[in-house]
Amino acid sequence: MASFDADNLFFDNDVNSKKNVRVILNKDKFIEILSEILEANQIDIIRNKIFFIINIITHFRKDEEGLLNIDTNGDTISIRKDILISDLNQILESQTLERAKYYINRLREGIQKVKTSKINDINLLRWKEYDNIITDSLWILDKRDSSGVHNGWYWGNFIPQIPHQMMIRYTKKGDWVLDTFVGSGTTLIECKRLGRNGIGIELNPEVAKRSQELINKEENRYNIITDVIIGDSRTIDIKRILNKYGIKQFQLIIMHPPYHDIIKFSNQENDLSNAISVDKFLEMFGEVIDNTTSYLERGRYLVLVIGDKYSKGEWIPLGFYCMQEVLKRSYSLKSIIVKNFEETRGKRSQKELWRYRALVGGFYVFKHEYIFLFKKK
Ligand SMILES: C[S@@+](CC[C@H](N)C(=O)[O-])C[C@H]1O[C@@H](n2cnc3c(N)ncnc32)[C@H](O)[C@@H]1O
Repeated sequence: MASFDADNLFFDNDVNSKKNVRVILNKDKFIEILSEILEANQIDIIRNKIFFIINIITHFRKDEEGLLNIDTNGDTISIRKDILISDLNQILESQTLERAKYYINRLREGIQKVKTSKINDINLLRWKEYDNIITDSLWILDKRDSSGVHNGWYWGNFIPQIPHQMMIRYTKKGDWVLDTFVGSGTTLIECKRLGRNGIGIELNPEVAKRSQELINKEENRYNIITDVIIGDSRTIDIKRILNKYGIKQFQLIIMHPPYHDIIKFSNQENDLSNAISVDKFLEMFGEVIDNTTSYLERGRYLVLVIGDKYSKGEWIPLGFYCMQEVLKRSYSLKSIIVKNFEETRGKRSQKELWRYRALVGGFYVFKHEYIFLFKKK
């Protein structure tokens, strides 16, 4: 039976947060009580009964109805306490009988039914409970998520919040995710935590080995597959990979390529960070898109994470150049997210120096990168 997926909410690590206080209700009993209340024909009767429910939820001892009685046979439902109380208060404050009944009906529907879209598991009838999902295009994240086995060992990794947010919005449990530049495996660790299957491709064998070891340490609660495959994403045979797992296509592709030569990842010629020019870099990046696009399901998403760079006193808008490469293929642009850089240890000590250089050189110090979102046509 479809039930509300509380796992998608574990992003908030603050155990003291009000958001983490949940009430577990006897589902059938709650629906029954709400249905009874809907029969009332006076607003005062409704108010009294709703007040009575609030009392049960806030003072467990008065639970004569067995609303919180989880020993009773039947389904239970877990709801965030602050949101439930706010919904009940909204009913209490209704000025008309019709309005009160409208809110009660909505509350009952959110408990009875699950309404999701084709591309994720978000229960739209209870959308208020997902306030950890970012829907704005400006992301200011002050610290990386270091829960689970995430340890940020790799120079040039991205923060786990990026694949986390993308998978919650653009995949369902059990879907397949491809990361063509998997590096230290951040995406695959998140796959394990969210119950998505993940395939990562990485050119550098030592990095791939170390990543796989770390990924293996994360608990596999949902019994899914997370494999790192050594190879060049421009040419690797994706169809063979899919055949191996008995699937036809991926439901999400994440790409976090080198920001051209900003960090040199290896000495290999086919490493995008060794491209001899920006044009060559874009050509190589385009080859990765060409090699993967037909294996992404139609209507599903490609996520590109990239920043810009400076060269010879000029700002090189790598992000927009790469975006253009994607748009030459069968994708439409859904969003451009601007995300702040977290300050790495190295950068912090050089902060003053960069500020001085910026003042002298007439430029601005990079503090952001992009997350481009494309939908496969
Ligand atoms: C920016 S890092 C990705 C980091 C990753 N998101 C993480 O959190 O660790 C880019 C990665 O792409 C790899 N790479 C470069 N060229 C590649 C290619 N042609 N095929 C596959 N991987 C490549 C590099 O070795 C590097 O690990």
